[in-house]
Amino acid sequence: MLLEKMLQSQGFGSRKACQQLIKHGLVRINDEIITDLKYKFDLKQPDFQVDDQAYQYREKVYIALNKPQGYECSHQATHHFSVFDLFDAVLLSRGLQCVGRLDQDTTGLLLLTDDGQFLQALTHPKKHVPKVYQMHTADVVTDGQMAQLTQGVELRNEKGIFAATDVTRLAEQHLQMTVHQGVYHQVKRMLAAVGNKVERLHRQQIGEFALPQDLAEGEWIYLSETQLAQAKTRDQSL
Ligand code: URA
Repeated sequence: MLLEKMLQSQGFGSRKACQQLIKHGLVRINDEIITDLKYKFDLKQPDFQVDDQAYQYREKVYIALNKPQGYECSHQATHHFSVFDLFDAVLLSRGLQCVGRLDQDTTGLLLLTDDGQFLQALTHPKKHVPKVYQMHTADVVTDGQMAQLTQGVELRNEKGIFAATDVTRLAEQHLQMTVHQGVYHQVKRMLAAVGNKVERLHRQQIGEFALPQDLAEGEWIYLSETQLAQAKTRDQSL
């Protein structure tokens, strides 16, 4: 692939801007400065540097972020930070989007991508990708509430029944459960529907992909092929 085209595809700006980067000697491959505008980039050797910073060619990007509290999943955050503040301009100009949304006060696993098909596949309501949440509740979680969550509850202005699976009490006011849709404020509304209240919410897993233990809040990683396949795993039973 022509070097300037490759740079453009990776978020380094317009074709003209990418040509300038090359002409000014800011692009290195295998430690060699490339100024030839006709240089063909070998996609099988994806490493390159721009302005002394190392990059790797990626056709699409798939990112797992450990979202901190106080960040909105929106480009135009109003009252809080935006999760997009956690990424550099090169990545952002690829058109990174959140795969579904977490509330500003929810922490944990958030996927981001520039792959529209992947986004659709994970967020389409009929696809049923399970998501595991952990929460602290205002009141002690009762057996009755757990049974109700498992049987399913109705949510105002939403069609159908919303049931959780693997509802597990981790402590008196600490619950884990798996949900299978992704409607607005779903977990908080489900807990309210059974007469309790979510005080802190954390997403631990999407599909079969769990938030890596060593990923600190605010940190992110590129997903490997295996992790990507895990994140896409759907409910077998639905
Ligand atoms: N359900 C909620 O209520 N909030 C979230 O952030 C995610 C799921």
